[in-house]
Amino acid sequence: MGAAGPAGGVNKVVIVVMVCLGMFIGCSWCQDNGNAEAAVYIVTLKQAPATRSNAEVKVKDQHFGSASPSRMNRLNRTSSNVSRSDRGYGSYISRVHDTLLRKALRGEKYLKLYSYHYLINGFAVLVTPQQAGKLSGRQEVSNVVLDFSVRTATTHTPQFLGLPQGAWAKEGGSETAGEGIVIGFIDTGIDPTHPSFSDTTSENSYPVPQHFTGICEVTPDFPSGSCNRKLVGARHFAASAITRGIFNASQDYASPFDGDGHGTHTASVAAGNHGVPVVVAGHHFGNASGMAPRAHIAVYKALYKSFGGFAADVVAAIDQAAQDGVDIISLSITPNRRPPGIATFFNPIDMALLSAFKAGIFVIQAAGNTGPSPKSIFSFSPWIFTVGAAAHDRIYSNSILLGNNVTISGVGLAPGTNNTMCTLVSALDALSDSSAGNDMYVGECQDSTNFNQDLVQGNLLICSYSIRFVLGLSTIKQAMETAKNLSAAGVVFYMDPFVIGFQLNPIPLSMPGIIIPTPEDSKVLLRYYNSSSERDGTTKKIVKFGAVACISGGIKANFSYLAPKIMFYSARGPDPEDTFLDDADILKPNLVAPGNFIWAAWSSRGTDSIEFQGENFAMMSGTSMAAPHIAGLAALIKQKYPTFSPSALGSALSTTASQLDKNQAPIMAQRAYANPELNQSPATPFDMGSGFVNATAALDPGLIFDISYDEYASFLCGINGSAPIFLNYTGQSCGVCAINATDLNLPSITMSKLNQSQTVQRLATNIGANETYSVGWFAPYGVTLKVSPTHFSLASGERQVLNVSFTAQINSTAASFGRIGIFGHLGHVVNIPVSVIVKISYNTTSDTNFLQ
Ligand SMILES: *[C@@H]1O[C@H](CO)[C@@H](O)[C@H](O)[C@H]1NC(C)=O
Ligand SMILES: *[C@@H]1O[C@H](CO)[C@@H](O)[C@H](O)[C@H]1NC(C)=O
Ligand SMILES: *[C@@H]1O[C@H](CO)[C@@H](O)[C@H](O)[C@H]1NC(C)=O
Ligand SMILES: *[C@@H]1O[C@H](CO)[C@@H](O)[C@H](O)[C@H]1NC(C)=O
Ligand SMILES: *[C@@H]1O[C@H](CO)[C@@H](O)[C@H](O)[C@H]1NC(C)=O
Ligand SMILES: *[C@@H]1O[C@H](CO)[C@@H](O)[C@H](O)[C@H]1NC(C)=O
Ligand SMILES: *[C@@H]1O[C@H](CO)[C@@H](O)[C@H](O)[C@H]1NC(C)=O
Ligand SMILES: *[C@@H]1O[C@H](CO)[C@@H](O)[C@H](O)[C@H]1NC(C)=O
Ligand SMILES: *[C@@H]1O[C@H](CO)[C@@H](O)[C@H](O)[C@H]1NC(C)=O
Ligand SMILES: *[C@@H]1O[C@H](CO)[C@@H](O)[C@H](O)[C@H]1NC(C)=O
Ligand SMILES: *[C@@H]1O[C@H](CO)[C@@H](O)[C@H](O)[C@H]1NC(C)=O
Ligand SMILES: *[C@@H]1O[C@H](CO)[C@@H](O)[C@H](O)[C@H]1NC(C)=O
Repeated sequence: MGAAGPAGGVNKVVIVVMVCLGMFIGCSWCQDNGNAEAAVYIVTLKQAPATRSNAEVKVKDQHFGSASPSRMNRLNRTSSNVSRSDRGYGSYISRVHDTLLRKALRGEKYLKLYSYHYLINGFAVLVTPQQAGKLSGRQEVSNVVLDFSVRTATTHTPQFLGLPQGAWAKEGGSETAGEGIVIGFIDTGIDPTHPSFSDTTSENSYPVPQHFTGICEVTPDFPSGSCNRKLVGARHFAASAITRGIFNASQDYASPFDGDGHGTHTASVAAGNHGVPVVVAGHHFGNASGMAPRAHIAVYKALYKSFGGFAADVVAAIDQAAQDGVDIISLSITPNRRPPGIATFFNPIDMALLSAFKAGIFVIQAAGNTGPSPKSIFSFSPWIFTVGAAAHDRIYSNSILLGNNVTISGVGLAPGTNNTMCTLVSALDALSDSSAGNDMYVGECQDSTNFNQDLVQGNLLICSYSIRFVLGLSTIKQAMETAKNLSAAGVVFYMDPFVIGFQLNPIPLSMPGIIIPTPEDSKVLLRYYNSSSERDGTTKKIVKFGAVACISGGIKANFSYLAPKIMFYSARGPDPEDTFLDDADILKPNLVAPGNFIWAAWSSRGTDSIEFQGENFAMMSGTSMAAPHIAGLAALIKQKYPTFSPSALGSALSTTASQLDKNQAPIMAQRAYANPELNQSPATPFDMGSGFVNATAALDPGLIFDISYDEYASFLCGINGSAPIFLNYTGQSCGVCAINATDLNLPSITMSKLNQSQTVQRLATNIGANETYSVGWFAPYGVTLKVSPTHFSLASGERQVLNVSFTAQINSTAASFGRIGIFGHLGHVVNIPVSVIVKISYNTTSDTNFLQ
């Protein structure tokens, strides 16, 4: 699970570890079973599942065109006639699956892990490829896919997002923000004892929403009473992992309990209680609050600390969440590799999420921490709302003033040395006589017996850090322990130039300390230290420690950082349509939200971060932290507009996003692992989608661009050769009405290839009062763009078709970007980002003024 690691080096290491783990998994099974080939397969049947039984959609009968009626009337489709708790039907379906398996694999060994019956009619089963072949030959079976692995990809953010005066105020304050909405989390579980999930913080009544029918598992580590009116559902899904022999009940917990920390963190970012004090390592860092502090939480644990997770378990979790009646699903997980086949969209998780979309559920997914290169995004489908990570404005900066009057800034949530200069002593110069001279990492200060206390006492101890700290081979905590044992006045960490370095997150330190985050500044420190110390000519031992320094504390936050800014690890578009990395005509990510240095609840037994082990809160970074911000904000929108379709929710968030930072300059995107602050340039839609979320504006979007399930079906049918696969996954035939991705009514326009000229349409629906709009735009470089009409008036509820025509003026394979703005006289501003990658012009040398 590579959830939090923000540093490039970190991500690479995590990925390598995951790949090795994957290979190990395959082999451990074959040794245990003497059967080299059995594996988990996800099998889908042709007969419709529960959701479809009375809401069957015939794609054939629909007609899609510019402004055909099928585009209309999409705002009120929320689970119109979908029965969400058809339990009898579920057990009936399960028996049908058993019968099918018995018949197809007569007398053979197999193991059914799950029956899916709500979103998908199918099951997960452990069989050999031969048996899988037999199953796929059955006439009832429509699809057989190999299971695959996935990984997990805020005290201040409510203020930064303007919630207290903005969105919360409109919703009646933090006392009611999000009430009545249930968010389902597919994650590592939850620590139910955390005060962020208590339901006794308010005197107002707080009923469990009636549309939610989920339950809570009861186990010894998740006892009866763990759930309440805040935490309304909790289950775990591990059958695929258990089957592979890699599930370890003592660290993975066979219950919804979070043994990792990640799931507790994401749930509290979205819906944790308001005003819970954050106290870590004895320091108070302010009060935490979720984005929708009165929304309800339902937990579907399908990810585990030690190995990540598997699609069969994730699909089971999604199926259950939909059946229980959640309003929103938040996934801070991404697949470990691009799904094979004709299109990335056709994989079991995205197809289960399409069914969830059809049932009216808004689905949010982290973009992945695989940035910053193009096409690094790991969330693919247009019905999924994909969220990238941006920095917000809070930084905890501390600094060290050296005796030569040079100041170096660093990180570390630590107190300072009160302006007194202390002597600097490098760990390498304070070795005890008995210390093992052959420990090449002795400078990482992991064992106090290596050092001479007389030399360290009352001084600042200099220790090194390296990638070993991310791998858990060394820890900051242990180095602090060493310093304490030796009665040091504080600790200075520098980046070891001989072992690959990386960027460390701010970590709470119990005594004065600082982590110097760059190799350049680390050299400055060492140069000063060496030039100020007197060494014996032959032994090279220090005879006089001459270097002094004082640390100024970093516990107080300051809000000076130029924000928002797209973090280098946040995965980027364009959206790869297939494993050949052809570009889809779909914008990814959809949006960015705060994801860097996010304080949120931590599991009391969470082991994902050594530095926060045993703490109640942790500061984490990643797109995993960005996605639940949007889940919480979506709950506020859903509370205000209960009948919004998932597309309408996504449109409200997208069209109102901001492209400017705090100083009204373009939002910047970091573009390199190394020295990300020096490698940045203005963010494009492939970095930030529509932009940075504006919660206040999203609650009053003016216009909405809606998309129905049928349109997504037609889009999938428009992919070359997709008809049999679409049939296999959905049980529906593709009709004649395929549409191109550019014609999906998205609040963005993305063209992977503009051949001479093309016109696309968008249909806007006015959900506000009567308003008159005017349209403005700037065209991507090398393209002329025209939008018509340029002025229109819409009464409340009325719709307007916009024609957008593109003409290439140059030949180019470099992406260029533009924007359409629709400005209402009541103040609504609706933004549509425009991206064109390959451009092929007419053979004309005539000069056209393509720069409007
Ligand atoms: C949606 O349905 C509700 C009640 O069923 C109705 O009041 C509302 O006008 C509908 N909205 C739209 C946009 O059709
Ligand atoms: C739901 O189904 C019932 C009967 O099956 C029907 O009368 C009703 O109109 C349907 N409602 C909607 C919103 O489709
Ligand atoms: C669809 O399912 C059938 C039956 O399992 C299988 O033979 C066929 O290969 C599948 N088609 C695709 C394109 O996956
Ligand atoms: C399971 O985890 C526990 C605690 O982390 C560990 O001590 C034990 O060795 C593990 N068991 C296996 C079979 O890996
Ligand atoms: C934080 O919460 C505590 C109690 O929960 C409260 O006493 C305190 O005033 C809060 N502080 C702020 C800054 O909101
Ligand atoms: C130290 O540097 C500061 C600013 O960098 C300067 O104002 C001050 O005079 C310097 N002090 C000495 C002793 O050089
Ligand atoms: C700094 O001052 C504070 C309060 O004045 C005191 O609690 C703390 O121990 C001092 N720290 C050091 C390193 O002297
Ligand atoms: C967010 O939207 C509100 C309302 O439209 C606006 O007043 C505010 O300036 C926006 N904030 C940013 C950062 O764009
Ligand atoms: C999709 O786009 C292609 C190329 O631009 C075009 O030839 C085709 O007619 C379009 N299909 C539909 C259904 O609009
Ligand atoms: C809004 O426009 C409609 C249709 O033009 C009109 O009937 C209605 O009176 C208008 N409402 C307001 C409040 O102006
Ligand atoms: C662009 O490429 C097309 C096809 O390769 C060619 O016909 C056209 O002349 C080129 N246009 C320019 C301006 O070079
Ligand atoms: C493009 O135009 C140029 C001059 O106008 C001409 O020489 C060339 O042959 C044309 N190319 C094509 C492929 O028509």
